[in-house]
Amino acid sequence: MSGDLATPLATRALKDGFGAEILGVDLAAASDALLAEVVATFHRFGAILLRDQRLSGDALVRFGSAFGPLEGHTVQDYLLPGHPEIYVLSNRIEDGRPVGAHNDGIGWHTDHNFKAEPVMCTMLHALIVPPEGSDTLLADGVAAYAALSPEQKARLDPLKLQHSFAYLAEMREHGRKAIDPAVLAENPDVIHPLIRTHPADGRKALWVSGGTRGFVGMDQAESFALIDELIAFVTDERFVYRHKWRAGDILVWDNRCTLHTGTLFDDTRYVREMHRLWVKGDRPY
Ligand code: SIN
Repeated sequence: MSGDLATPLATRALKDGFGAEILGVDLAAASDALLAEVVATFHRFGAILLRDQRLSGDALVRFGSAFGPLEGHTVQDYLLPGHPEIYVLSNRIEDGRPVGAHNDGIGWHTDHNFKAEPVMCTMLHALIVPPEGSDTLLADGVAAYAALSPEQKARLDPLKLQHSFAYLAEMREHGRKAIDPAVLAENPDVIHPLIRTHPADGRKALWVSGGTRGFVGMDQAESFALIDELIAFVTDERFVYRHKWRAGDILVWDNRCTLHTGTLFDDTRYVREMHRLWVKGDRPY
């Protein structure tokens, strides 16, 4: 068990050059100094994984708060009772009511991209996982940017995207509950750079996302074609880490330099239940 901070945390890469599994840390028992080491590891690697954790709501909130102030939730339907910072993902029905959001994160995206200050990181704590399916995929935007040619970088570096909650809501409305107009008014469109700089060390990421109205100064058809091309590029297998869940896992990813997606599973046979936390972020540059 790590705890001697003179010794660096033991880690192994999630994928060559991306992410770190942190070994031998019991988050429920960790000191504040040890949590600070875990957070520092997260800032270096883009994502961290800790296995075999069993965190109560209080302990998960303590862990999340070590990264910074926690972000609230735009949609308030599935907050964990007693812990409004924790959002429940689940396909379980209790007393005739769903206890969580089901298939919430399917499709490549980065969380809260439509905010002026999108969430810095997302953490999922797995409580119940199906024996197959439901993997979470993380795409490494830094490796993708590094793989571009100098000509591609020169073309993409100045581009800015108009991110839009309203547009995202319209896209998702089919088959879902309509979004409250007050929530729409609280989330006006925002402009963010396509190439995002990581504040920890200046590394650059290709930070493309769906749910946008397109590039500033480019027509929509051309924009959407380029967005599709860039999402296909960033999510190419060579840049993607596929996480196969075990109950007790905590996976934290850095939304400043990754895209992610959930994947489907046989929800007629299996239950999947996760607790999700978001940590506030800063303005992309
Ligand atoms: C998310 O996009 O926040 C959730 C992804 C997942 O459930 O695997």
